[in-house]
Amino acid sequence: MTDDLFTPLELRETEIPNRLMVSPMCQYSVEERDGLATPWHHVHLGSRAVGGAGLVMAEATAVEPRGRITPEDLGIWSEEHAEALADTTAFVESQGAVPGIQLAHAGRKASKSRPWEGSEPVHPDEGGWEVVAPSEKPWPYEGEPPETRVMTKEDIADVVDSFRTAAEHALDAGFEVAEVHAAHGYLLHEFLSPVTNDRDDEYGGSFENRTRLVREVTEAVREVWPEEKPVFVRISGTDWLEGRDSWTVEQSARLADDLYECGADLIDVSSGGISPDSSPDWVGPNYQLALAEHVRENRQTDVAVGTVGGITTAEQADAIVRNERADLAIVGREFLRDPYFGLHAAQELDALDRNEEPIQYHRAFR
Ligand code: FNR
Repeated sequence: MTDDLFTPLELRETEIPNRLMVSPMCQYSVEERDGLATPWHHVHLGSRAVGGAGLVMAEATAVEPRGRITPEDLGIWSEEHAEALADTTAFVESQGAVPGIQLAHAGRKASKSRPWEGSEPVHPDEGGWEVVAPSEKPWPYEGEPPETRVMTKEDIADVVDSFRTAAEHALDAGFEVAEVHAAHGYLLHEFLSPVTNDRDDEYGGSFENRTRLVREVTEAVREVWPEEKPVFVRISGTDWLEGRDSWTVEQSARLADDLYECGADLIDVSSGGISPDSSPDWVGPNYQLALAEHVRENRQTDVAVGTVGGITTAEQADAIVRNERADLAIVGREFLRDPYFGLHAAQELDALDRNEEPIQYHRAFR
């Protein structure tokens, strides 16, 4: 039988009740610049679980303080951070959804102000910090960029350890899926792409060398993530810089299989973000689906593939799954506009018996 939007997705021993995932979306809403979750995060994630998403992925959550994009980012570098998220994961689960967390390090794109404050560099004397990256080139800010330090091999080993420890804290917080953030021009993508990696050691140059760090991080997360629970990796399927030495969809397909061998179960295919000109010419419905499809069609392993970008209707998400173009439909902004997108989709596709509303809302849906 053909799978559809409301067919559960089984990955290892985790059953995601439907194919709708809330895309990780930074809320920049930590109050004391200490990485600790606040009521905003609880309500934001909790209401999408109420709203019928199968998997609720928490935002890019920093594995170490230096890895935050802004001082207001969520962090998961201590047990205190885990405790601050525990009620949220328990609530998400109580609503029948699977709680996930995106583990992140912002690399050279760290230490800036929030988008609504201009995404300007925040310097150490203003509460920012020195940023680390594979190579010297800072993100091309208009103003003075933050100090960018080229990572030594010890720094690289420390980052791998930070991801491993962060995954342990995430597990203690009650998350069921860990997603490694290797997209959008942040640290792991900076190693993958020749645009930002001009190292001449074993972390730069060849495909094997550029992919070494993300493989090491995935293996480290897998080491501590229970055998029965899934690990995802989000990648940028392409840098959109054809004609330049850059990250491409062909490399993505190859990497997907390598990551499967490192213990990843699903590759979440996004795109862009490595430089200011690294974006698609057109952004509309399913604008990144061809990238996910390429990875899925060319995979040599059983790795599952998710697509994100411009998914805004139930029919569209359902068609992606039915036509086997991707295994998971990942929805960002539509879930901000409509926290109950999952329930509305079930209503529209006449599938409320398979994606039930909470009993408290019964009178609104039946
Ligand atoms: C994002 N995006 C994003 N991506 C990611 O991997 N980690 C993150 O923390 C964030 N943060 C974030 C915040 C906000 C407010 C938005 C709108 C987006 C990108 C997001 O997950 C998604 O990939 C894109 O928005 C494209 O999907 P939609 O919005 O077209 O469904």
